[in-house]
Amino acid sequence: MVDQIAKTFLNDGDEVILADITFPRYLTTTKMMGAVPIILPLNNFTYDLDAMKKAITNKTRLIWLCNPNNPTGTMFTEKTLIDFLNFAPKNIVIVYDEAYNEYVTSDDFPKDSIKLLDKYPNVLIMRTFSKIYGLAALRVGYTLASEEIIANINKTRGLSTLTPLLKLLQ
Ligand SMILES: Cc1ncc(COP(=O)(O)O)c(C=O)c1O
Repeated sequence: MVDQIAKTFLNDGDEVILADITFPRYLTTTKMMGAVPIILPLNNFTYDLDAMKKAITNKTRLIWLCNPNNPTGTMFTEKTLIDFLNFAPKNIVIVYDEAYNEYVTSDDFPKDSIKLLDKYPNVLIMRTFSKIYGLAALRVGYTLASEEIIANINKTRGLSTLTPLLKLLQ
Protein backbone atom coordinates (compact mmCIF):
# COMPACT_ATOMS: atom_id res chain seq x y z
CA MET A 1 0.00 0.00 0.00
CA VAL A 2 2.86 2.39 0.75
CA ASP A 3 4.15 1.93 -2.82
CA GLN A 4 0.66 2.38 -4.24
CA ILE A 5 0.15 5.64 -2.38
CA ALA A 6 3.49 6.97 -3.59
CA LYS A 7 2.71 5.92 -7.17
CA THR A 8 -0.66 7.64 -7.03
CA PHE A 9 0.31 10.97 -5.56
CA LEU A 10 4.02 11.65 -6.15
CA ASN A 11 5.79 13.14 -9.13
CA ASP A 12 9.29 14.37 -9.85
CA GLY A 13 10.26 17.27 -7.61
CA ASP A 14 7.34 17.02 -5.15
CA GLU A 15 8.47 17.51 -1.56
CA VAL A 16 7.63 14.76 0.91
CA ILE A 17 8.03 15.17 4.67
CA LEU A 18 9.00 12.20 6.81
CA ALA A 19 10.86 11.35 9.99
CA ASP A 20 14.47 10.19 9.98
CA ILE A 21 13.80 7.04 11.98
CA THR A 22 10.56 5.48 10.85
CA PHE A 23 9.19 2.77 8.52
CA PRO A 24 11.94 2.72 5.84
CA ARG A 25 9.54 2.07 2.97
CA TYR A 26 8.34 5.70 3.12
CA LEU A 27 11.78 6.87 2.04
CA THR A 28 12.40 4.26 -0.65
CA THR A 29 9.01 4.82 -2.32
CA THR A 30 9.41 8.59 -2.12
CA LYS A 31 12.76 8.30 -3.89
CA MET A 32 11.37 5.74 -6.33
CA MET A 33 8.91 8.38 -7.56
CA GLY A 34 11.60 11.06 -7.96
CA ALA A 35 10.14 13.13 -5.12
CA VAL A 36 12.35 15.09 -2.74
CA PRO A 37 12.42 13.69 0.81
CA ILE A 38 12.48 16.31 3.57
CA ILE A 39 13.75 14.27 6.51
CA LEU A 40 13.21 15.54 10.04
CA PRO A 41 14.84 14.14 13.16
CA LEU A 42 12.76 12.58 15.88
CA ASN A 43 12.59 14.50 19.13
CA ASN A 44 13.24 12.24 22.10
CA PHE A 45 12.52 9.21 19.83
CA THR A 46 9.12 10.72 18.95
CA TYR A 47 7.70 12.34 15.79
CA ASP A 48 8.27 16.10 15.94
CA LEU A 49 5.09 17.43 14.39
CA ASP A 50 6.01 21.04 15.17
CA ALA A 51 9.17 20.67 13.10
CA MET A 52 7.10 19.00 10.36
CA LYS A 53 4.74 22.00 10.32
CA LYS A 54 7.67 24.34 9.82
CA ALA A 55 8.99 22.17 6.97
CA ILE A 56 5.79 22.55 4.90
CA THR A 57 6.27 24.59 1.71
CA ASN A 58 4.15 25.16 -1.37
CA LYS A 59 5.92 22.16 -2.93
CA THR A 60 4.91 19.74 -0.16
CA ARG A 61 2.73 17.03 -1.68
CA LEU A 62 2.63 14.34 0.99
CA ILE A 63 3.53 13.73 4.64
CA TRP A 64 4.12 10.28 6.12
CA LEU A 65 3.03 9.85 9.76
CA CYS A 66 3.50 6.59 11.62
CA ASN A 67 1.69 6.38 14.96
CA PRO A 68 2.88 4.59 16.98
CA ASN A 69 6.18 4.79 15.22
CA ASN A 70 8.03 1.79 13.84
CA PRO A 71 10.74 1.15 15.07
CA THR A 72 10.86 3.42 18.15
CA GLY A 73 7.44 2.42 19.54
CA THR A 74 6.69 6.01 20.58
CA MET A 75 3.40 7.81 19.89
CA PHE A 76 1.98 11.30 19.54
CA THR A 77 -1.37 12.27 21.04
CA GLU A 78 -4.74 12.92 19.42
CA LYS A 79 -4.45 16.58 20.36
CA THR A 80 -1.07 16.88 18.62
CA LEU A 81 -2.42 15.14 15.54
CA ILE A 82 -5.52 17.36 15.31
CA ASP A 83 -3.44 20.47 15.79
CA PHE A 84 -1.21 19.30 12.94
CA LEU A 85 -4.12 18.48 10.63
CA ASN A 86 -5.67 21.90 11.30
CA PHE A 87 -2.39 23.52 10.28
CA ALA A 88 -1.53 21.47 7.18
CA PRO A 89 -3.01 22.80 3.91
CA LYS A 90 -5.71 20.49 2.54
CA ASN A 91 -3.91 19.95 -0.79
CA ILE A 92 -1.24 17.92 1.05
CA VAL A 93 -1.93 14.21 1.38
CA ILE A 94 -1.39 13.16 4.99
CA VAL A 95 -0.74 9.45 5.31
CA TYR A 96 -1.58 8.29 8.81
CA ASP A 97 -0.15 4.81 9.21
CA GLU A 98 -1.46 3.04 12.28
CA ALA A 99 -0.09 -0.44 11.63
CA TYR A 100 0.52 -0.89 15.37
CA ASN A 101 -2.44 1.05 16.81
CA GLU A 102 -3.93 -1.99 18.58
CA TYR A 103 -0.93 -2.13 20.90
CA VAL A 104 -1.42 1.36 22.36
CA THR A 105 -3.12 1.64 25.73
CA SER A 106 -2.57 5.34 26.39
CA ASP A 107 -5.82 7.35 26.76
CA ASP A 108 -4.60 10.27 24.69
CA PHE A 109 -3.78 8.14 21.63
CA PRO A 110 -6.13 8.79 18.65
CA LYS A 111 -8.02 5.51 19.05
CA ASP A 112 -10.92 6.48 16.81
CA SER A 113 -9.01 7.89 13.87
CA ILE A 114 -11.78 7.14 11.35
CA LYS A 115 -13.73 10.14 12.59
CA LEU A 116 -10.90 12.38 11.32
CA LEU A 117 -11.86 11.58 7.74
CA ASP A 118 -15.04 13.70 7.94
CA LYS A 119 -13.19 16.85 8.79
CA TYR A 120 -9.90 16.19 6.98
CA PRO A 121 -10.52 14.85 3.46
CA ASN A 122 -6.78 14.93 2.77
CA VAL A 123 -6.07 12.20 5.35
CA LEU A 124 -5.48 8.61 4.37
CA ILE A 125 -5.44 5.99 7.14
CA MET A 126 -3.40 2.81 6.65
CA ARG A 127 -4.05 -0.35 8.64
CA THR A 128 -2.75 -3.88 8.41
CA PHE A 129 -3.54 -7.35 9.72
CA SER A 130 0.19 -8.13 9.71
CA LYS A 131 0.94 -7.11 13.29
CA ILE A 132 -1.97 -7.69 15.64
CA TYR A 133 -3.01 -10.94 13.91
CA GLY A 134 0.53 -12.16 13.21
CA LEU A 135 -0.22 -12.40 9.47
CA ALA A 136 2.78 -10.54 8.09
CA ALA A 137 3.42 -13.00 5.27
CA LEU A 138 -0.06 -12.42 3.83
CA ARG A 139 0.42 -8.64 3.55
CA VAL A 140 -3.26 -7.96 4.03
CA GLY A 141 -4.26 -4.48 5.01
CA TYR A 142 -6.60 -1.70 4.09
CA THR A 143 -6.81 2.02 3.57
CA LEU A 144 -9.51 4.39 4.75
CA ALA A 145 -9.90 7.71 2.96
CA SER A 146 -12.29 9.92 1.01
CA GLU A 147 -13.94 8.49 -2.10
CA GLU A 148 -11.79 10.77 -4.21
CA ILE A 149 -8.51 9.51 -2.72
CA ILE A 150 -9.58 5.87 -2.99
CA ALA A 151 -10.72 6.35 -6.60
CA ASN A 152 -7.33 7.81 -7.45
CA ILE A 153 -5.48 4.93 -5.80
CA ASN A 154 -7.71 2.42 -7.61
CA LYS A 155 -6.75 3.98 -10.92
CA THR A 156 -3.09 3.18 -10.31
CA ARG A 157 -3.99 -0.36 -9.20
CA GLY A 158 -5.74 -0.98 -12.51
CA LEU A 159 -8.98 -1.73 -10.65
CA SER A 160 -10.85 0.70 -12.84
CA THR A 161 -10.61 -1.78 -15.72
CA LEU A 162 -11.85 -4.61 -13.48
CA THR A 163 -14.83 -2.71 -12.09
CA PRO A 164 -17.17 -3.25 -15.10
CA LEU A 165 -16.32 -6.97 -15.00
CA LEU A 166 -17.07 -7.20 -11.28
CA LYS A 167 -20.41 -5.44 -11.85
CA LEU A 168 -21.31 -8.02 -14.51
CA LEU A 169 -20.68 -10.82 -12.01
CA GLN A 170 -22.94 -9.33 -9.32
C1 LIG B 1 4.59 1.00 10.05
C2 LIG B 1 4.25 -0.04 9.04
N1 LIG B 1 3.38 0.28 8.08
C3 LIG B 1 3.04 -0.60 7.13
C4 LIG B 1 3.57 -1.86 7.12
C5 LIG B 1 3.19 -2.78 6.01
O1 LIG B 1 2.37 -3.80 6.43
P1 LIG B 1 1.91 -4.99 5.44
O2 LIG B 1 2.50 -6.21 5.99
O3 LIG B 1 0.40 -4.98 5.52
O4 LIG B 1 2.40 -4.66 4.07
C6 LIG B 1 4.49 -2.24 8.09
C7 LIG B 1 5.11 -3.57 8.06
O5 LIG B 1 6.16 -3.82 8.60
C8 LIG B 1 4.85 -1.29 9.08
O6 LIG B 1 5.72 -1.58 10.04
